[in-house]
Amino acid sequence: MKKILFTGCGGQIGSELVLAFRNVYGSENVIATDLSANVSRELLDSGTFVQLDVLDKESIVNVIDKYDVGSVVHLAAILSAVGEKNPQLAWNVNMNGTVNIFEIAREKKLEKILVPSSIAAFGPDTPKEMTPQRTILHPTTMYGVTKVAIELLGDYYNHHYGMDIRGLRYPGVISHKTLPGGGTTDYAVAIYFDAVKKKSYNCFLKEDTMLPMIYMPDCLRATLELFQADKSRLTCATGYNLAAFSTTPAEMAESIKKYMPDFEITYSPDFRQEIADSWTNSIDDREAREEWGWKPEYDLDRVTKDMLAEVGKKQFNLTQTT
Ligand code: NAD
Ligand code: SER
Repeated sequence: MKKILFTGCGGQIGSELVLAFRNVYGSENVIATDLSANVSRELLDSGTFVQLDVLDKESIVNVIDKYDVGSVVHLAAILSAVGEKNPQLAWNVNMNGTVNIFEIAREKKLEKILVPSSIAAFGPDTPKEMTPQRTILHPTTMYGVTKVAIELLGDYYNHHYGMDIRGLRYPGVISHKTLPGGGTTDYAVAIYFDAVKKKSYNCFLKEDTMLPMIYMPDCLRATLELFQADKSRLTCATGYNLAAFSTTPAEMAESIKKYMPDFEITYSPDFRQEIADSWTNSIDDREAREEWGWKPEYDLDRVTKDMLAEVGKKQFNLTQTT
């Protein structure tokens, strides 16, 4: 088979998604790349890794030719909080990196491109509850602007060049293997690490900030399912709404208290509050369910149980080796 190339594989999602793809397609068929060489040992030991900047079109072409690449999962991006601190960087990496991937795919007639979108594609004008698939996309962050532009550009390439570009609007992703890379939903990971370490957490969002979230195993399965879905059934290919559960920092704290009664949370909202307030509370993902069979498995309490156990093991290992 032709190889599947990953960009941005060293991040929160890539570090696990590459391994999930290697399990399904074979280690030799999945080429991992990132700007940074600081990727996990598991990723390096399980297959090919190449250091690659998505802004360097010539080097991407060389890697695609060298490894006979047929599809790309394009994860390299600057997320919302880092993007608001440096909007020019977010525009450059997210847009020009993606244009490079789309153009190379067009020129080389690649089979398939998957590039995630985000709940950040929504904005203050978007209906907040059970946000529908087809809705107002008028974000106020540079990250969100790039996500909407990438969805539209993908639609354009699909329509005008007959390409196969797919994407899903990930909610905030919760995981324990690799820390998130500077988003607004990062609190939903940090809360578990601090709970295990200190039995307390100082949250950068207000207690009642409701946001859609998803646990990594569901995120991995959704991505594989969309990647494998029958193209003829996809009516909103470049930005499928995807839901698992919605929650607030206060609800997460209550969930943690079920397992750790003396856990305490405090709140010191910062610039990320405005970003979170511009996004929606809950998502209607019926198209993903109907067109490629999406169904989440993890709710908040199941995530809490698993995260506390997994982060606890890390803490134990850390204590043992120091
Ligand atoms: P991350 O920030 O953890 O990782 C991004 C990776 O991209 C990093 O390893 C970084 O080194 C790499 N990168 C940055 N600039 C690069 C460049 N010029 N060339 C090559 N690599 C570069 O991000 P993530 O959470 O893994 O997100 C992956 C994708 O999923 C992104 O498109 C993101 O917008 C989307 N997404 C993530 C979430 C989430 O909660 N994690 C939610 C919605 C959407
Ligand atoms: N988790 C991401 C962020 O907060 C959403 O795309 O930026």
